[in-house]
Amino acid sequence: MKLDVISYDDLLHITTNQAVLHYLRTALLDKGIVGICNIPEFENQSRAFVHAARQFSALEDKVKQQYAPDRESGQTEGYELGAEQFQDQSGKWHTDDKKASFYAFVPDNLRNKWPREINLKTPYLELGELIFNTGKLLLHVIGINHEVGLAHDSLVGYGRMLHYHKENDASNIHPNWCGAHVDHGVFTGIIPAYYFRNGKEVEEPEEAGLYIQASNSHDFEKINASDKSVLLFQVGEFGQLILHDYIQATKHVVKKAKGEIERFTFALFYSAQDHVVVKSRSRLIEDERYAQNQFSDGSISYLKWQEASFVRYRARQ
Ligand SMILES: [Fe+2]
Repeated sequence: MKLDVISYDDLLHITTNQAVLHYLRTALLDKGIVGICNIPEFENQSRAFVHAARQFSALEDKVKQQYAPDRESGQTEGYELGAEQFQDQSGKWHTDDKKASFYAFVPDNLRNKWPREINLKTPYLELGELIFNTGKLLLHVIGINHEVGLAHDSLVGYGRMLHYHKENDASNIHPNWCGAHVDHGVFTGIIPAYYFRNGKEVEEPEEAGLYIQASNSHDFEKINASDKSVLLFQVGEFGQLILHDYIQATKHVVKKAKGEIERFTFALFYSAQDHVVVKSRSRLIEDERYAQNQFSDGSISYLKWQEASFVRYRARQ
């Protein structure tokens, strides 16, 4: 699938350029994905982040486990290995056991659990804030702002470092690093993935990477994300709810590379604050996460929506 890309400079001046505005809206509405190029320092910050992420991943398991989230107290910040499950086309649930994550709020927050062994914090937060601020410009363009109850200074940024492990285990039969799903938040920024074979950076393999199902299609198509200077954005379900299906959450899957190849990337999720409430006319209100958690007037809070989404996708261990 051809990725629609606009420059950061065009994004800054978009209100005066109807042609670019139309191009961008069409990309987000029809495909659910758009790329922004020429963002100052983006590629440098991505590479600095990936360098730190690889250092963290190389630490011993017992060291990394010190930074595991305190799930019992409802926290998700820190390091986690493969704790999500997704349904395949035949309805069978699979656990993504080749996926390690490191979650943290962006900007920094006292709840974040930064490792002491290496400096993951600085590049993580620098990259996260760059993505967070850039995506807010896009949110304005599609009408997600204070006018629909989502003032940008109250949005919550939540980062996720992702390390997809190499496929060297014959017992692992799943074709995907991350099964097909839609993100439950408002919006998601993603950096192009970095791939390594035996510690050496390689191009994205033909078969691997991010595939999306466009809003107007039944098939998953590969997104060409070989240009490391392009920051990607896709739509989440709460964005769909709040705009009553004007935009559709982007269904996506990450396919595995064959052989001894590992993948690193970073996603920045835009969440609403817990108390934000939407009374949606989206078709997502038929989803049981909405139907079973709505208030008597037919509205739902972000907290309820998020909790129900976590319950659906957390792997039963
Ligand atoms: Fe996702």
